[in-house]
Amino acid sequence: MDKSIPIAVAAGDGIGPEIMAATRRILQAAGAALAFESVELGENPWRAGCASGIPPEAWKAIRQTRILLKSPLSTPQGGGLKSVNVTLRKRLGLFANVRPCRALAPFVPTRHPGMDVVIIRENEEDVYAGIEHRQTDEVMQCLKLITRPGCERIIRYAFEYARIAGRKKVACFTKDNIMKMTDGLFHAVFREFAAEYPDIATEHLIVDIGAALLATTPEAFDVIVMPNLYGDILSDVAAQVAGSVGLAGSANIGSGVAMFEAVHGSAPSLAGLDVANPSGLLLSAVMMLAHLGESATAERIHNAWLVTIEEGIHPADIFAAGQSRQMVGTTAFGEAVIARLGRFPAELPAATYEARPNGLSAASERRPPAQKVMVGVDVFLHERNLDAETLAAKLQRAAGARFQLKMITNRGVMVWPEGFTETFCVDHWRCRFLAPEGATSHAEILALLARVAEAGLDFIKTENLCTFDGEIGYSAAQG
Ligand code: IPM
Ligand code: MG
Repeated sequence: MDKSIPIAVAAGDGIGPEIMAATRRILQAAGAALAFESVELGENPWRAGCASGIPPEAWKAIRQTRILLKSPLSTPQGGGLKSVNVTLRKRLGLFANVRPCRALAPFVPTRHPGMDVVIIRENEEDVYAGIEHRQTDEVMQCLKLITRPGCERIIRYAFEYARIAGRKKVACFTKDNIMKMTDGLFHAVFREFAAEYPDIATEHLIVDIGAALLATTPEAFDVIVMPNLYGDILSDVAAQVAGSVGLAGSANIGSGVAMFEAVHGSAPSLAGLDVANPSGLLLSAVMMLAHLGESATAERIHNAWLVTIEEGIHPADIFAAGQSRQMVGTTAFGEAVIARLGRFPAELPAATYEARPNGLSAASERRPPAQKVMVGVDVFLHERNLDAETLAAKLQRAAGARFQLKMITNRGVMVWPEGFTETFCVDHWRCRFLAPEGATSHAEILALLARVAEAGLDFIKTENLCTFDGEIGYSAAQG
């Protein structure tokens, strides 16, 4: 009987097909017991009329095999096809993006030979929800969604990963001095869970200084967990500081399905030239083998790859005169790895894949709902001609007996009741109404909105203001 493990593979865009071919040849030569099922994703199916870039046959294969090995896909900037990567991650519930960044000094030049960092990036939320609106002539909005279950899953995963991988410290980066509620929640869950892992050191850094320290003293970090966007940016930084973003692999882990992909993009300008470095995808495939429990094959390939790197057989992106010995293309690099299967590195630490934690999943417990009280509403207006005082006079009349106009802000800055003439204003106003009795209702908010519209004001959205178990669930104005 065929014991091969079926996996879905996507050759991707740009340099994708070349690096996938090299990777598959290595997997086959190493005796990986895999049955490849090719799927088409991204630009090709999109051009053929599949709006999501993921045709039904591809979904079927991925959901059946539970594993996808994927080359980079081009993600259009500014418009066009929505990111297929992000759709895959979110629809398949791949909440954890694990991105190891380890120096290979002295064989690949780096200023930080001791660097060995694993970035664990939240993979489904944050601004990657991709919910954006043009609200007025002058204003675009992107919603940043951070959820408690999302934070719990990723932070639990980070601590469990650290424990199983024998890591000593987990750091968390957020910007909770500014985003006190969204990033504040991420940090709060980190603090809560840290208490359950006394064997692991923890620290929290504001992401700006965290990023600066990661770039200049990466040896000081071990595992770092962060929200989606910071994780996207800093995993490129970390990979590049370790040697090259072209060497970084990653695992996208969910509770049922997992996807393995290089950290780098599809590099269309290098497509078809046989120069791209297949290492990022190859190391992702190694993470996949470990995830599948194929540790022996994972080790065999990873160690042969380390020998190739040690022997100075380098693709152009990591070729350094004086250090590298031979510059090779994609195909020749793959062949060099195959020729070294069975060998172990002489200087670099050999890779071992016992009890790797990639199969971890981290459940989050649903909490009972809080006692929620609606205490008011923020009404957002599109208004280009009125100043804050005139606007306030109109809104006070519209407030009626059930609401009090508390403040008006423009881009989050208080402009009424106390405003500065220096404050720059656009055509987008947030007007806060509170119920003097301390509670309001949907019906009262609807009636308020009707009065606002009657006053000739263009409301573009509302946010209900609520307390949860007595705690205020909305941010204050700035200034
Ligand atoms: C990554 C990539 C993706 C991301 C893009 C291609 C959608 O940059 O995997 O880091 O932003 O997550
Ligand atoms: Mg990225």
